[in-house]
Amino acid sequence: MNFKPKNPLIQFSLARKLVWFTFVCATPYLVQAQTITSPNKNLSLQFELKDNGIPSYQLSYKGKSVIKPSTLGIEVKDLPSFMDGFSIANTTQASVDDSWSPVMGEEKTIRNNYNELVVTLAQAKNNNRYIRIRFRLFNDGLGFRYEFPKQTDLNYFVIKEEHTEFQLAGDHKIFWIPGDYDTNEYAYTTSKISEIPGQIKKATVYMNAQSPIKDLAVQTPSMMKTSDGLYINIHEAALINYPAMSLTVDPTTLKMSSHLTPDAVGNKGYMQTDTQSPWRTIVISDKATEILASKMILNLNEPTKYKDVSWIKPMKFIGVWWEYFVAGKSTWAYGKENNVKLGQDFSKLTPNGKHGATNERVKEYIDFASKNNIDAVLVEGWNVGWEDWIGNWKEEVFDFVTSYPDFDVKALREYAASKGVQIIMHHETSGSATNYERRLDRAFQFMNDNGYNAVKTGYVGQIIPRGEHHDGQWMVNHYIHVAERAANYKIMIDSHEAVRPTGLNRTYPNWIAQESARGTEFEAMGGLTPEHTTILPFTRLMGGPMDFTPGIFQTDLSYYGTGGKQRVNTTLVKQLAYYVTMYSPLQMAADIPDNYNRFPDAFQFIKDVAVDWDNSYILEAEPGDYITIARKAKGKKEWFVGGITDENSRTATISFDYLPKGTQYIATIYADAKDANWNEKPQSYSITKVIVTSKSLLKQYLAPGGGLAISIKEGKASEMKKLKKI
Ligand code: NOJ
Ligand code: CA
Repeated sequence: MNFKPKNPLIQFSLARKLVWFTFVCATPYLVQAQTITSPNKNLSLQFELKDNGIPSYQLSYKGKSVIKPSTLGIEVKDLPSFMDGFSIANTTQASVDDSWSPVMGEEKTIRNNYNELVVTLAQAKNNNRYIRIRFRLFNDGLGFRYEFPKQTDLNYFVIKEEHTEFQLAGDHKIFWIPGDYDTNEYAYTTSKISEIPGQIKKATVYMNAQSPIKDLAVQTPSMMKTSDGLYINIHEAALINYPAMSLTVDPTTLKMSSHLTPDAVGNKGYMQTDTQSPWRTIVISDKATEILASKMILNLNEPTKYKDVSWIKPMKFIGVWWEYFVAGKSTWAYGKENNVKLGQDFSKLTPNGKHGATNERVKEYIDFASKNNIDAVLVEGWNVGWEDWIGNWKEEVFDFVTSYPDFDVKALREYAASKGVQIIMHHETSGSATNYERRLDRAFQFMNDNGYNAVKTGYVGQIIPRGEHHDGQWMVNHYIHVAERAANYKIMIDSHEAVRPTGLNRTYPNWIAQESARGTEFEAMGGLTPEHTTILPFTRLMGGPMDFTPGIFQTDLSYYGTGGKQRVNTTLVKQLAYYVTMYSPLQMAADIPDNYNRFPDAFQFIKDVAVDWDNSYILEAEPGDYITIARKAKGKKEWFVGGITDENSRTATISFDYLPKGTQYIATIYADAKDANWNEKPQSYSITKVIVTSKSLLKQYLAPGGGLAISIKEGKASEMKKLKKI
């Protein structure tokens, strides 16, 4: 064997390797295999080199195989690939058990506890060029990534495809959306893995700017359940300078394989050493609640490098927004014309009479926010260009600094400030990332000058540079660039239509929320199934907070008299529950203020509910069926409970054992009435107050498509005396 180490690392490990050489002849299989277990020993990972030096791993949970032997490798363009011909040059192991505190989150302290195996693999046939594979085995799952250290024979390379395999051990139930390079806004299908081919066509509904993957593929996070009750979630962590991964599916062998999003010329990733892939993650538990409680993806992301994070704050907001979708009385656009260009005098347009972002309307929203303890008002349609913003693949649609004639930036800035309310900026890019990047600093400076501290960004439509995809390496870098640049201006970002999140809110905490899934807007465009939001926390939200935009009280949209019969497929109370079940430090109260004024007693929950937490307790969960979560408000003696169900009614069992022992609290219970149903009497609810202690147990009915919401606070003795104890 021609082994001439050039690199100090390999020289260092030569002694170990020699031992290996003497051994390898006698028992090749055993010596080439390396095993680590999770700190609690439930998970076991084995790495080995197969024939021809092909890297392979397998994973088991409590003695049961979860991932059967699966190969690892990266195919490279114009250079030899990292697929085979490897020998183990070195292995190291380490254990870590520490903790850290997120800027905002579901827990104030997060434990980071894993055992690590790092395997250095050299290719003798390629001059001992080497890579590393780093495995981290936590109690709740496995993360692993490819690392490409800088070395004489490896500087630049272009990835043709990553070939990471996940050989599943059975034909599991899977909650999936089709693989697509541009959108995550599909409805979920639940089926067996082997049934995906028969359902993929139906699942791939028409969508604006979609690029379904030609091979049979699903997106991550991919949530599965085995026939014996094991939950498996495959995703990725720390997606930086690399394309997003989908999973191709072989319905016969039940093998999934990585499939990276290509760029405009068909390549996948442009790499320069030192570099690494994102982590490939497999979260595993025999309890669905533990999947939702997992912080493994955050743990695999790097701590933030921002020195000052004091300006990053959780927020509740309302917005001139939902009325564009349902009321039919207002629009983003100001003019009647539909062929406009930046630079023209927009005040000369013929007003369409329906412009939403007017001074008067925005002031009404500001007044409502100010009266109701809501931090901010999002205003969409404030800036010129909306007359023709979609469908023409135009490079320059918006300039992000010029307002329509009926939106007075200065006057509204002063008005909002006088009422103690923030205005949230809106930057719809219409997919033109190039135009946005060119104007980014001017746009952020404009925000600083006018007192805006947060922006909702959007990437509707096909991406410019043309041929790039929302989920490709170029755009992945774009979103991060925007977040980092925004941090220089102390601006928070809420991105819509960006690549699915992978825990980067740890590293870039000002990227406080994302949409990147089918959210409330689809309730006005065909509807979400009642089970949709019982699946999202197991899929999309595994990567990070979602700007789902809950809080719709007027769920029968025929109310607006605009001809549509569309309904929001939930009860009113389920909309309240979302503030707890759909974690985000940025939460919208998405309905129109008039509707909140009609139900002030229910709106009280939205006013009260926290958006940042000390602790979270996942009480009950089953993907596709139900979720019940309790959370403690950050720095306060207040708790909030949210429970949701799918189209079936159910009785939730709510424990209160997370409350401090020996103290009585007032629980305000918002519940579906017996006659409530998502499509009949969705606004039929009750609000009751009871006394609870850490020993209380509540059985609570949830209507079909319904929910429950509870706020728990300390109370005055005089008030408590009148209440029943449970
Ligand atoms: C899609 C976003 O999801 C939605 O919230 C926004 O109003 C429109 N794009 C316009 O930017
Ligand atoms: Ca969207």
